[in-house]
Amino acid sequence: AVSTFWIANPHNNLINCAAAGSEETGFWFVLHHVPTGPSAGMYSPGYSEHVPMGKFSNNRAHSNYRAGMIIDNGVKTTPASAKDKRPILTLISGRYSPHKDADPLKPREPAIIERFIAYKNQDHGAWLRGGDVWLDDCQFADNGIGLTLASGGTFPHDDGSKQEIKNSLFVGESGNLGTETTDNEIWGPGGLDHRGRTLPIGPDFPIRGIQFYDGPINVQNCTFRKFAALDGRHTSALAFRLNNAWQSCPNNNVTDIHFEDVPITSRVFFGEPGPWFNDLDMDGDKTSVFHDVDGSVSEYPGSYLIKEDNWLIKHPDCIDVPDWRGSICSGHFAQIYIQAYKPANLKMKIIKNDYHNHPLYLEGALSKSTHYQQYQPVVTLRKGYTIHWDKTAPEELAIWLINFNKNDWIQVGFCYPKGTTFSILSDIHNRLLKKTYKTGTFYRTSQMEKLEHRYPSKGYYYWDEDTGLLFLKLKAQNEKDKFAFCSVKGCERIRIKAVIPKMAGVSDCEAVAYPKYTETPIVEVPMPKKLSSAQLQKTKDHLLEVKIETYKKQYFHLKDDFAYIEVDGVRFFLTDEGIQLVVIDGHHGKVVDRVTFKNSILQGIPAQIENYVNNIKDHSIVLLTSKGRFISRGPWTKVLEKLGAEEGFRLKEKVAFVGFKGSFRPVWVKLVTNEDSAKIYQALPIPVVKKMKL
Ligand SMILES: *[C@@H]1O[C@H](CO)[C@@H](O)[C@H](O)[C@H]1NC(C)=O
Ligand SMILES: *[C@@H]1O[C@H](CO)[C@@H](O)[C@H](O)[C@H]1NC(C)=O
Repeated sequence: AVSTFWIANPHNNLINCAAAGSEETGFWFVLHHVPTGPSAGMYSPGYSEHVPMGKFSNNRAHSNYRAGMIIDNGVKTTPASAKDKRPILTLISGRYSPHKDADPLKPREPAIIERFIAYKNQDHGAWLRGGDVWLDDCQFADNGIGLTLASGGTFPHDDGSKQEIKNSLFVGESGNLGTETTDNEIWGPGGLDHRGRTLPIGPDFPIRGIQFYDGPINVQNCTFRKFAALDGRHTSALAFRLNNAWQSCPNNNVTDIHFEDVPITSRVFFGEPGPWFNDLDMDGDKTSVFHDVDGSVSEYPGSYLIKEDNWLIKHPDCIDVPDWRGSICSGHFAQIYIQAYKPANLKMKIIKNDYHNHPLYLEGALSKSTHYQQYQPVVTLRKGYTIHWDKTAPEELAIWLINFNKNDWIQVGFCYPKGTTFSILSDIHNRLLKKTYKTGTFYRTSQMEKLEHRYPSKGYYYWDEDTGLLFLKLKAQNEKDKFAFCSVKGCERIRIKAVIPKMAGVSDCEAVAYPKYTETPIVEVPMPKKLSSAQLQKTKDHLLEVKIETYKKQYFHLKDDFAYIEVDGVRFFLTDEGIQLVVIDGHHGKVVDRVTFKNSILQGIPAQIENYVNNIKDHSIVLLTSKGRFISRGPWTKVLEKLGAEEGFRLKEKVAFVGFKGSFRPVWVKLVTNEDSAKIYQALPIPVVKKMKL
């Protein structure tokens, strides 16, 4: 832990200092639980973890091997002993949460970091973990990762605190190119101009400005400049912690974000399997989310940006942004933490009843050696879910309601073997005072509707023994402070103790739970309207919203089909049976043509379509929808390959397609084909630009 400034007592003033070229970290706040060395005995235990920070202003950190600045960790302040053989001053975990008089029961006093500059640090500009750690007027450039704000992994250590950064600048790749040397392995092309430059960490490292981790955090009035991905390097202004096992707080929010020289495709990246991201299958990787309060990132004010395949929080109107591997959604979200005891080594499968074909698998955040495991999905409120296991269900579960406001609820069916009996209670756990008290008992009911009823000390559960699902309505009973994870009274929990018959087998009820408990997906919170071009920042690139749908009308005696293509709110209906194409100029995003090829019983789709597609100008987006039967046959389907469809597809009756005519294949080319309905909602970057190769 070599560092230029090693700060054991945060209550020091650091003003106008520079830290450069350290083997590890420029400024490192490493917490000593009790003072060591000449200060031994001067402060009570826990002082350094809670004391407000002195003035930290106008400092600079550059060219450090690991980070410009770190607030995290502590050191062991006791000598080696038989019980703990680690020597004194070994790096251990430590959490900073500044409070008045270093007393965690007194009001918070945010640590203010102002006018800090961090550049060319290999790994991080700054990694700051704690309670209220706030940055103002800072600048980050040419770091691997500009800034990570961390709160505590599963729980913010200081519940009710938040971290924020405002009025700050992040530069991905500045004009400071560095010097090429013969043994330099991290010299390579820069994103925007493709000139050679020194790179952090490695040539394909996904450079990022701010990295979301656990939260809650707020990013406000920040500018991101010169973040541009290459084909082979997933640079982005905003991103998520790599290989993340921990929780993602849906209250992470951003406002007033500005982009300069950041292609719209590089604003955010949710990750994909590959170098640095590995399999992208850790629990936190799958649940990443943040709130785009004013639409300054996504152009949809009030939206939530989520990973594209997170069906626990998706709804039918969410709009995918394939370049970000993300989706723009709306809704009310919170989290549940499910702690499983006996055994604690299971894989959990959680299913939202309205998308039961898209389960989410979680393996838990904690190391395998703990006596319990914790699963931490982000959930849509006021929805039904079921939970299943890859072995016999755990004998004990504790379900924590996290970020639930009073009266927020979800309904969950937990899978258990036939013959299981239950004892279920609710309690409140105060994490600061480490106190727990029981609040109620749950009784069995034979009517599902009775789950609604909840009295101060009484609730109901419904045990559907045929499907093996134990139903509970999880509803928050108490108010919650704005940034707190738990209620003002403490964390509300439901605890289930199950007596499970021996040799019970795998507790996976999915096959019998659906369609019995299938719900129809609905849009509870309407999608925000996309900002108009007049409202957008005057950057030349923007998103183009395209919607394509075709389905059988179910409610009319006419067995008619319904099909349309919509481009930025303008809808083109397909009235005749056949194929409709809408052609959009890939440079400026304007619709340039729309044409229908009628299907005839005798000839099918006319061969002219081939000619038509051949004559479409290069660099065009081509949208296609179908209507009627027998569309899927005939030679016309070849044109889809010309427009980027993978070879070997087999069309079904309904077809929705987003294609591109040009010299490359954008990631957003997509073909959806089904018997009953096909649908694509996407936002495409305009202008369409080919990424340069690494
Ligand atoms: C936004 O941040 C910039 C510094 O990057 C500052 O000059 C400006 O005053 C800030 N705007 C507001 C509204 O605070
Ligand atoms: C965003 O976060 C900030 C600070 O964390 C908070 O003051 C603000 O109310 C939040 N906005 C929304 C819409 O949640």
